[in-house]
Amino acid sequence: MAKSARRKQIEAVALYPVDWIEERTGLIGYHKWFLFRKVPRDINWMQTLGAATLTAFIVQAVTGVVLAMYYKPDPDKAYASIQHITDDVFAGWLVRGMHKWGASVFIILMFLHMGRVFLFGAYKYPREINWITGVLLLVLGMAEGFTGYLLPWDQTAYWATVVGININATGPIVGPFLAQFLQGGTQIGPDTLSKFYSLHMLVLPGAIMALIGLHMYLVVRLGVTSPPWSRTAAGRERAEGDPTAGHGAGRTGLIREPSSGEDD
Ligand code: HEM
Repeated sequence: MAKSARRKQIEAVALYPVDWIEERTGLIGYHKWFLFRKVPRDINWMQTLGAATLTAFIVQAVTGVVLAMYYKPDPDKAYASIQHITDDVFAGWLVRGMHKWGASVFIILMFLHMGRVFLFGAYKYPREINWITGVLLLVLGMAEGFTGYLLPWDQTAYWATVVGININATGPIVGPFLAQFLQGGTQIGPDTLSKFYSLHMLVLPGAIMALIGLHMYLVVRLGVTSPPWSRTAAGRERAEGDPTAGHGAGRTGLIREPSSGEDD
């Protein structure tokens, strides 16, 4: 049906700012590439675990920013500032609870997502680099948990960190240096707390965000894999030399696109 002149006018007005941004940055086209892509028709709920992990990370980032507005990384004030957040600040108990429990949710989801990737063989060619970035994300995610645990500066936090640092010290060659670096002195004290705080809220989240960016870029570039029982399961491109297999990889230009009718 032909569009009325009025409708064309409204569309032109609505699209003007979009075109304006696209012409100057190319960002709109990039977002379309990122958000509107085809996926194999036989994907299932287990493939939402990566997005669930991403959501958990975003919740941690947002609640962490709010907590950082009230938290004081000083041995004389840290514990009191945590109590202030819990007892006095509006919805502080909620934000702190979300951050504290969310940390476990984030780690559990990461393991579940990794398990799914492993069971589906989604680490195989051409997704090896995605697996490697994933392993780095796992290590950094756990480092987030370790550094965050000290921040309440209570007995549990203190002694858990003593144990953690001592375990690090037993590592071969780099162990003692790593332990000394983390402790920031001969014993756990103000320097340890500010070092852990800096790692926890600047260094590690920054590195995690950059790696998630790379991880997501690769997911979009390579496409998601089908389950192992599928004709287009991960790794089949190489294992069987079947140009119609390995659904997403077709987009890389490494092999031919899947034959028509594969996509939904
Ligand atoms: C911050 C942590 C992580 C986030 C936010 C994240 C996010 C995602 C998302 C959204 C996807 C696409 C959807 C899906 O397959 O579920 C994905 C795919 C993938 N992830 Fe992760 N991930 C994380 C950690 C990991 C870990 C720990 C590993 C493994 C060691 C890993 C390996 C992979 C691989 C190989 C794929 C491609 C799967 C496929 O094509 O089917 N990721 N990730």
